[in-house]
Amino acid sequence: MADPKKLFIKTYGCQMNVYDSERMAEALGGSGYVETRTPEDADMILLNTCHIREKAAEKVYSELGRYKGLKAANPDLKIGVAGCVAQAEGDEIMRRQPLVDLVVGPQAYHRLPEMEARARSGHKALDTDFPAEDKFEHLKARPKAARGPTAFLTVQEGCDKFCAFCVVPYTRGAEVSRPVNRILGEARDLVERGVREITLLGQNVNAYHGAGPDGETSLAGLIWALNDIDGLERIRFTTSHPNDMSDDLIAAHGTCEKLMPYLHLPVQSGSDRILKRMNRAHTRDSYLALIDRLRAARPDILISGDFIVGFPEESDEDFADTLDLIERVGYGQAFSFKYSPRPGTPAAERPQVAPDVADARLQELQALITRQQRARQDAMVGQTVGVLFEKPGRLPGQMVGKSDHLHAVHVDDCAARPGDLCAVRIVSSGPNSLAGILA
Ligand code: SAH
Ligand code: SF4
Ligand code: F3S
Repeated sequence: MADPKKLFIKTYGCQMNVYDSERMAEALGGSGYVETRTPEDADMILLNTCHIREKAAEKVYSELGRYKGLKAANPDLKIGVAGCVAQAEGDEIMRRQPLVDLVVGPQAYHRLPEMEARARSGHKALDTDFPAEDKFEHLKARPKAARGPTAFLTVQEGCDKFCAFCVVPYTRGAEVSRPVNRILGEARDLVERGVREITLLGQNVNAYHGAGPDGETSLAGLIWALNDIDGLERIRFTTSHPNDMSDDLIAAHGTCEKLMPYLHLPVQSGSDRILKRMNRAHTRDSYLALIDRLRAARPDILISGDFIVGFPEESDEDFADTLDLIERVGYGQAFSFKYSPRPGTPAAERPQVAPDVADARLQELQALITRQQRARQDAMVGQTVGVLFEKPGRLPGQMVGKSDHLHAVHVDDCAARPGDLCAVRIVSSGPNSLAGILA
């Protein structure tokens, strides 16, 4: 048998790209590839890219530039670009970087094996169509190899919301939900292979409305169906939009034991004026009221968020409203970004905030968030929480895992193995993680 070819995949961007990279590696497994950890010994390099901010997109071109020497040394090396930059700038990538053999957009991954064969035969291959069929059905089934205790599973993809700053509706296309039975099948298969926690993914995951046995099913309906799978211990989902937080989903946070007390619910800004200009279609009050309802259903739920500072025309007063909203919510976790104008989005054409003003705001906001995160983490000391152990820690005998609230936890002299879900009493809180003992 011929030696397997080696595939090096580098993944940028969000969790959906992590999931897609796994699926692409599996699909190319059918063409005789095994994964390698370094580009130097690869027969194919695939960059799975992100277009969300300017910096993310630029990284692709600088990374490609670094492969010039490799291609000169190995003319059989094939280089591919996948993901959201591929979708947004496919033709330009081919023009700007002649090293690239293959460009594949996020909705065309099922065609990757054919495209690889085309590239091998010395032709360029580009596919950034939005085909009607479900790409996941055409990708090879997951092989039955054992895997770690946690996994991502895409249930919904694309977005119809068109926030004024965001490229996702253009790069991922219109919102689509996968049918319930296929998701359950994939989840059961993951559990058989050792997975104990599944994070359901979607750009607007709570807009999920897949076909089920009794008609259209909501995300809450899907979660309840997953709840019945023996051996699956934990369910999470991300990313949610405030306007799709339905009553049944809020209720599930109070009643579904496997659903973890953590919710990533981006708000972007605390100013109604800016929210309107962002086309977010919710207000600060509607967001705050939603948080109250979530906390009524599940008092210990940890709220996470995303913020953009320096959105066009954001004034000091608008920014103060954002800080005020953060104070009111009390975030356990948050991600914040300086606004980055994206070509083709409405906000890119508007008057921009001066970079030094945006920088100062970002620093101030991040300092506040860090204080809140730390306070929430410190408050865990003395409590007993569930921890799903994932792997050995840095010290001998130590194990690390994640708590129900997604805090990193380490336990010294720990007899637990990866995949064990144990009660752990938290004894101290460090800068990035908690320390505990088995309860
Ligand atoms: N679907 C999710 C997240 C999409 S992208 C949602 O609806 O919230 C992840 C985050 O990147 C966003 O929440 C936003 O905070 C940030 N982001 C998106 N476009 C951006 C831009 N042009 N500049 C800066 N940050 C941006
Ligand atoms: Fe982007 Fe808005 Fe859609 Fe989220 S909801 S993916 S921020 S357009
Ligand atoms: Fe980036 Fe595309 Fe995800 S733009 S954040 S990789 S959906």
